[in-house]
Amino acid sequence: MNILILNGPNLNLLGLREPEIYGSRTYDDLCKLIEAHAAELGVSVEIRQTNHEGVLVDWIQAARGKFDGIVLNPAAYTHTSVAILDAVQAVGIPTVEVHISDLSQREPFRQISYVRPACVAVTCSCSSARRPRQRSLRPSSQCLRPFRSEQP
Ligand code: DQA
Repeated sequence: MNILILNGPNLNLLGLREPEIYGSRTYDDLCKLIEAHAAELGVSVEIRQTNHEGVLVDWIQAARGKFDGIVLNPAAYTHTSVAILDAVQAVGIPTVEVHISDLSQREPFRQISYVRPACVAVTCSCSSARRPRQRSLRPSSQCLRPFRSEQP
């Protein structure tokens, strides 16, 4: 199984960016966690990050025929992008929407997700920021779980 992991704008700044919300682990730490968990599950992952909406659309379109699933954190584009919604709907690849913070506890505009109607599952609150005893981000196990349950 081949999974494409896409991260949107400002996620490259994890660790620096609002650590009280997103935790102190870096983007590099996140990639290592995902790779380690993917290896445990025996799935292959390709992880990418961009600050540009059109690049996310291009990557989603190009995933057709190459990837079995997409794990997507569109970051701020979650709350604005019809183009990303359309791309996910167009390719028909099972896609999981994932967020590091708990959107239900944040500003009202963050509780609107344009991409969610096209996704098969959504996972929020993967940050260790409010859980000091848990020292790592948890997105990898959360976001890959829906794909694992599809395996025979
Ligand atoms: C985010 C939540 C978004 O509202 C925000 O714009 C982000 C990150 C998250 O992972 O919690 O950049 O997608």
